[in-house]
Amino acid sequence: MFFDRPESGELSVLVHLELPLPIEQNDSREFEELVLSAGGDPVAMITGSRPAPSAKYFVGTGKLDELLSAVREHEAQIVIFNHELSPSQERNLEQALECRVLDRTGLILDIFAQRARTHEGKLQVELAQLKHMSTRLIRGWTHLERQKGGIGMRGPGETQLETDRRLLRARIKAIGKRLDKVRKQREQGRRSRLRADIPTVSLVGYTNAGKSTLFNAVTDSDVYAEDQLFATLDPTMRRISVPDLGATIMADTVGFISNLPHRLVEAFRATLEEAASADLLLHLIDAADDERARNIEQVNEVLEEIGAHTLPQLLVYNKIDLLQEMAPRLDRDDQGRPIAVWLSARKLAETGEGRDLLEAAIAELLTENVVHQNIILATDEGSLRARLFRQNAVQNERYLADGRCELEIRLPESDLRRILSAESLTLEDLTLNDQFGVDGQQIAS
Ligand code: GTP
Repeated sequence: MFFDRPESGELSVLVHLELPLPIEQNDSREFEELVLSAGGDPVAMITGSRPAPSAKYFVGTGKLDELLSAVREHEAQIVIFNHELSPSQERNLEQALECRVLDRTGLILDIFAQRARTHEGKLQVELAQLKHMSTRLIRGWTHLERQKGGIGMRGPGETQLETDRRLLRARIKAIGKRLDKVRKQREQGRRSRLRADIPTVSLVGYTNAGKSTLFNAVTDSDVYAEDQLFATLDPTMRRISVPDLGATIMADTVGFISNLPHRLVEAFRATLEEAASADLLLHLIDAADDERARNIEQVNEVLEEIGAHTLPQLLVYNKIDLLQEMAPRLDRDDQGRPIAVWLSARKLAETGEGRDLLEAAIAELLTENVVHQNIILATDEGSLRARLFRQNAVQNERYLADGRCELEIRLPESDLRRILSAESLTLEDLTLNDQFGVDGQQIAS
């Protein structure tokens, strides 16, 4: 560990400004939850609005005075901004306020650091922290008693933070290498699963929706779940057996939050990649949360960012025990396709209630016709090729001696038909190289 966690919550003054679009619009309620989740003890929330952040302190000088009084009045140990700060803003604020200042990225990284469990997760967090720190090394930290640790100051690394940039760069490089290796190993695992044709179901959802609880209930395992945000950082995978379907891999993923800073999306790519390569996404929603519609939207936005928005999705409305008189239920669309399951993961764990509906929906959605086929495209079929790539449907590509290209594609038959019809083609127009087909059969003979 870089630092030990402080025993009690750090007294934190929170700063949340309303800024006009297109500057980040973060939510103040979520912000408070994030601080609690990091082990902070919010003693004051300073709010306000500005047409644009000030270059020197992010806030204006009037607000800075207000902040200073709040810090003094509450004897706060840290000031946390719900915004991205530049290294110089952070430094200027620390000097003016005489206490530690943390920005939104630092806060999220800290939470990730506390939650990382696997080797890869720890490496990813350490890498992201080091990168974040490397831009912030010049400041004088001595007056801030950082050896005590605290929010934004701990991580899964083994050594005390090196303040020397050169050492830091070397460490970043070494971790990058180790991560590449771990990723390659994981990719191998994924490939062998693909070869074995075991479908993967990834649990995604807004943080605290109950993913780990459902994962444990369905897989009978014991992944750490607690009433805090981000109980899951690393994808945890288990093999389960679903009636009418057989072996299936279930993967738990990190909880999504709104406006995950871009650098962090990159840092946690491997976690999210697992979701991007799933056959089905179980999108978990806290049905009792007033903000549930907004949370669904935000998760879908992140899914779009990682290219997973085209994957089949089953909505799982969780925590129905908190709603009045609601029994587990399966909703279908006009064509009879399952679209949502309502259940309580907690009840499912205790009594198994709702498990049958969930498994039935998963089995139905995964046995829908999937085309897995090698096709040959003529040289003038570039736009079809592009559409297939956009759909993430191409698993392999090679060029033949005559200039045509052979693609190994895998996608739901309905999607393939839609793509083909946009090109005024049908399934019968495809030139096949008959290795795979619908559900393992050939599409056409
Ligand atoms: P992150 O890893 O932070 O994304 O969280 P998560 O989505 O994995 O949530 P987790 O399973 O850790 O559950 C969050 C909280 O919700 C815990 O306190 C759970 O006990 C609680 N919870 C989960 N399922 C249910 C449920 O069906 N009913 C009720 N009442 N609480 C639930």
